[in-house]
Amino acid sequence: MNIIQVTDYKEMSQKAAEVIIHKVKQGNRMNLGLATGGTPKGLYEAMIEDHQKNGTSYQHVTTFNLDEYIGLKEQDPNSYYYYMADSLFNHIDIPKFQTYLPNGLADDYNHECEHYDRLIKALGGIDLQVLGIGQNGHIGFNEPGTPFQSSTHIVTLEESTREANARYFNTLDDVPTHAITMGISSIMNSKEILLLVSGEEKADAMQKLLHGEISEDFPASVLKRHSHVTIIADQKALSGVLVSL
Ligand code: F6R
Repeated sequence: MNIIQVTDYKEMSQKAAEVIIHKVKQGNRMNLGLATGGTPKGLYEAMIEDHQKNGTSYQHVTTFNLDEYIGLKEQDPNSYYYYMADSLFNHIDIPKFQTYLPNGLADDYNHECEHYDRLIKALGGIDLQVLGIGQNGHIGFNEPGTPFQSSTHIVTLEESTREANARYFNTLDDVPTHAITMGISSIMNSKEILLLVSGEEKADAMQKLLHGEISEDFPASVLKRHSHVTIIADQKALSGVLVSL
């Protein structure tokens, strides 16, 4: 894993945007895997700013999001559909029909899970997947204990994850209990992975990722088996590991 150490959240976002924009500018058809949450917000802002200033076009880009809550409508401000439209898609020139998220309101969830993985495969696989990391090491919504060979599936969210995400909802009770997420193997099939990590609340997770063993108890540890992972982490996230870098 290649680690790029940056000062703070702003620099992490800027560096990540540079990596993505560089690839997008090459102009080849490209499948970009995206995440939600607090971590990639600054990245999306930087992509929007670049699009407005420099006209970088996303007409040839198709996106696949990692996950979606079960039971939230698209127009619910807490749905990841809404988050992506509001944080990125509405502000760049990507055609709407080239932006995919798992459907958290599907009639048949097994079918939806299979369909999502099939779709990614049929369109050529993910070229670059952006990831954040949960304090418990989750990637996507793959909580500790998720088999490494898992494909897209339905998960029951851990209480710690619901609590971490409650900041976006009125009350903890409003946070959905289930989500649909790309599986670990779906993520590992990406040709390249860009993991963004910022803040001291992630320092423990970074320490486990860099120095712990590869184990399903810490889902992100699987990334050590991938041949093309870049981590962009800020000083606070690396505070527990700086000495040994
Ligand atoms: C969201 C996702 C999650 C988040 C993780 C960290 O699409 O995949 O794994 O990346 O929960 O969330 P933040 O960035 O809010 O700390």
